[in-house]
Amino acid sequence: MADSSTSESHYFSSNPPPPTLSQHTAQANAFVTHHHAHSRRVVLLTSGGTTVPLENQTVRFIDNFSAGTRGATSAEYFLSQGYAVIFLHRQFSLLPFSRHYSHSTNCFLDFLSEWGRIGEGEEGEDGGAATPDVVVKAKYRREMLSVLRKYRKAKEQKLLLLLPFTTVTSYLFTLRAIACEMRCLGNEALFYLAAAVSDFFVPPDRMAEHKIQSGDVPESTSGPSPGGGGGGKKLVIDLDPVPKFLKRLVEQWAPEAMIVSFKLETDPALLLKKCNQSLDRYAHHLVIGNILATRKYEVLFVEEGSAQWVRLPTSDGNSGGNEEVEIESLIVPEVIKRHEKMLARKAAIH
Ligand code: PMT
Repeated sequence: MADSSTSESHYFSSNPPPPTLSQHTAQANAFVTHHHAHSRRVVLLTSGGTTVPLENQTVRFIDNFSAGTRGATSAEYFLSQGYAVIFLHRQFSLLPFSRHYSHSTNCFLDFLSEWGRIGEGEEGEDGGAATPDVVVKAKYRREMLSVLRKYRKAKEQKLLLLLPFTTVTSYLFTLRAIACEMRCLGNEALFYLAAAVSDFFVPPDRMAEHKIQSGDVPESTSGPSPGGGGGGKKLVIDLDPVPKFLKRLVEQWAPEAMIVSFKLETDPALLLKKCNQSLDRYAHHLVIGNILATRKYEVLFVEEGSAQWVRLPTSDGNSGGNEEVEIESLIVPEVIKRHEKMLARKAAIH
């Protein structure tokens, strides 16, 4: 069986790098150099789902549920704690700050009103008829001003670097390149891997060049399916496992950094076991486990020798969901506490 280093080399030599790789690497290099010179800690935060294209000229692809809420929200809390953030995110998923106004349930247009309509027939400041204009509705202004100030601070102080990916391959090439750029930060670097990374992909030698034609799909040898669709035809997709890159990250790409991975399960009975397996297999610092249905209210911190739930309190004092508090406001300080402990330990050794 191929070891992880063979499968990694094979993966990177047999898949094409994304066209944006050199540009993103240069941006990451400039960002890291700047913040290293200012002795600022840098977190590489991954967010959103990765796609698996089925065709080279891609019309169809496999995707997953992740909207990037965990990543975009966590980025804001890291920024508020003085970290510079490289936000490696799925293109068009949620972004820090703008996320407050980009959900379909939180459409930014609902936060605005037309000035001329507030008091139709009212006079404008100059005594003439009010000039049509757009304003933020009064009840949202305070919160929007606060988001706007944080956003502008992050921009003006160059604390946030947004780097997009779409496919699992572009994610992995970019992750490797940035990790290598961050090596100079030593243990001041933090990796917070919240992206939902595909476990399977179509290798280039089996990828269709053009759109798969439904008429070309062969008859199934097993006959029509019980659901009745397809008239006996079946599109069978043959996927290979994506090599597990966490081991390479821990051992070679970022050997001194603190590494936090996330583990998603749907069956609560499996969560602790899977988190412990991940910790044993990759020997990194912390696994944050979450269950799909409850991920916004509770997560499980698993590290060597301990497992601890972090939960949102409810107004009645019990755990289990509080709309106003975001769980990332509890997760991020807990992670930073551990990063600081690690830095203090390393400093004591030297
Ligand atoms: O975006 P939201 O809707 O807010 O959802 C957030 C989230 C549920 C996606 C997030 O909290 C989360 O759990 N992210 C990780 C989900 C995941 O991909 O789990 P996994 O079991 O497939 O991977 C576990 C770890 O292995 C990951 O840190 C990943 O970086 C790593 N991995 C995965 C695949 C691969 N080929 N190599 C890897 O090293």
